[in-house]
Amino acid sequence: KELLPLINKPAIHHVVDEALASAVSSLVFITSRGKSALEDYFDSAPELEALLKESGKQDLLASINRLMKHGHFTFIRQPEPHGLGHAVLMAQQAIGKEHFAVMLPDDLIVSETPALSQLIRVARQERASVIAVQEVPREMVPHYGVIGIRKTITPNLFHVGSLVEKPSPKDAPSNLAIVGRYVLSQKIFASLEEISTYTPGELQLTDGIAHMLHNNERVFAYKVHGRRHDLGNPIGWVNAVIHTALEDPTFGPHVIRL
Ligand code: G1P
Repeated sequence: KELLPLINKPAIHHVVDEALASAVSSLVFITSRGKSALEDYFDSAPELEALLKESGKQDLLASINRLMKHGHFTFIRQPEPHGLGHAVLMAQQAIGKEHFAVMLPDDLIVSETPALSQLIRVARQERASVIAVQEVPREMVPHYGVIGIRKTITPNLFHVGSLVEKPSPKDAPSNLAIVGRYVLSQKIFASLEEISTYTPGELQLTDGIAHMLHNNERVFAYKVHGRRHDLGNPIGWVNAVIHTALEDPTFGPHVIRL
């Protein structure tokens, strides 16, 4: 799915572009069986490059070359799907001692200032972990991790007081949903490890962050600017295709005429 083309490049390429545009160039992919095509996509492919050059597809060639030149890609396999928290734990060895970002490729966030760089700015300012949130209708909260506000710092920035993964509308502490971008402190690893010892089933990243709060770590939530598309469901995907086409200077005018 990540490799399906969203107009002119695979969905994952759009997300990697967001990372690169946010000055994040070391990327660790947590993959699983059957996803080796993903690894190939981020490797050099002389035959493909020659073909693109020959057929005059300079734009595509340039965008692939940009990736290869600026990105450093590592791939780690998650042998069993034990949840997002477990996937993040698998990256621990590959990550340095700094804060790091988590990007869920099912969430595409289109914005003039890349969503991740909005979060990084806040993380630097607050010297703390920051989660991207957006308001969703109450009836949609069971699809998301949801934050509870401890303190409103500005209309878009909140000190987080609690976190719940996929609450029912009546139990949700707000309608501010986590939208697949995080900047996290290294403390998340110890928290995930600790809760994994007593959590049966999937290890949720949301629960790991909630545990950080429990340990008095400061966590903020920032209402990111940008249009978010949920590529994980068909309607979200169709929406993303339509909007991406409309916003593209080459394709936009043609789509309007259709
Ligand atoms: C994951 C997270 C959830 C977050 C969502 C955003 O859920 O667990 O907290 O709100 O991504 O897309 P998933 O959609 O993988 O079930």
